[in-house]
Amino acid sequence: MTDSGKKTLGRIFSGAQPTGDMHLGNYLGAIRNWVRLQEDYECIYCVVDLHAITTFQDPRLLAGHTREAAATYLAAGVDPKESILFNQSQVPAHAELAWIFACVARMGWLNRMTQFKDKAGKHREKASIGLYSYPTLMAADILVYKATHVPVGDDQKQHLELTRDIAQKFNSDFGVEYFPLVEPLILGGATRVMSLRDGTAKMSKSDPSDYSRISLTDDPDTIARKFRKARTDGEPLPGEIAGLKDRPEALNLVTIFAALADRKRDDVLADFAGQGFADFKAALTDLAVEKLGPLTAEMIRLKDDPGYVDGVLRDGARRAAAIAEPILREVRDIVGFLRP
Ligand code: TYM
Repeated sequence: MTDSGKKTLGRIFSGAQPTGDMHLGNYLGAIRNWVRLQEDYECIYCVVDLHAITTFQDPRLLAGHTREAAATYLAAGVDPKESILFNQSQVPAHAELAWIFACVARMGWLNRMTQFKDKAGKHREKASIGLYSYPTLMAADILVYKATHVPVGDDQKQHLELTRDIAQKFNSDFGVEYFPLVEPLILGGATRVMSLRDGTAKMSKSDPSDYSRISLTDDPDTIARKFRKARTDGEPLPGEIAGLKDRPEALNLVTIFAALADRKRDDVLADFAGQGFADFKAALTDLAVEKLGPLTAEMIRLKDDPGYVDGVLRDGARRAAAIAEPILREVRDIVGFLRP
């Protein structure tokens, strides 16, 4: 049961890092789904500022970025009465359970994490220990609420498999049936939105080129310019999706179009079959402006009301802690710590 007393299909936890502007990949891969799931699930949505500092964040900017991320959730339609919306560092239970999980997870498991390899790159020895143990904190985020379902983009799948491994090993090490095995919810037609400059690379905040991504704060002119400059090939659009094999940039634009329009990709292609990209990109721009415009306007409005956003986060942290603390107390007992 949620605060509002309705039946639910389970408890959802998800989050995003406050590391600057959110982009279309975050929206289509995750946040849009979070909004839709509020109907049937008890939802807990977090701005993961502890995760953000696994790579250095300017302390003068971090609080602002945290508010901005929360404003994005709200503007997209996360309802702070229906769901819990808070920032991770306000609920210390996450960090405490992460330590316990750091003692359950094995180095061999973490060594296999592709996100660490991508982010650390050639400078593995210089990466922070936090970046390496990042997935144990993510497992703690989810399991400190005993969440059952986690809606994410495709890139987080491996971290959720690790979360299941940690839950399983904790249960078997301590001889309990305590933590649930979470189910990833990788939903919608755009679970992996690609860069506008390279259809084989993920759209990401860390790409140095601003033209690689549509930011949720972009104005209509910027959106138009970015789609106009988006890389494509010289072939006309085919009549069905099979015709986009080995054409990653074209496939990405069609996938984005279909996701924004809530239509099947084959149906979109049926409208544009045989045409070049100029008309398609113009239609894509109109669609993106129509769908994202209200969200961007609401984000701008919330930016002028930091007191409201801070209040939502504070209230959310209080409600989140009320769920997490009793669970953490049970975990402490299971581990065998002396009671305070
Ligand atoms: P983050 O901040 O990188 O991204 C937030 C969400 O956006 C999705 N996403 C994408 N989806 C489709 N295409 C893309 N190009 C794209 N880029 C990002 C991500 O899959 C994610 O769902 N580790 C997480 C944050 C996290 C978390 C958690 C998530 C921390 N604890 C617990 C779920 C549960 C991350 O860095 O997301």
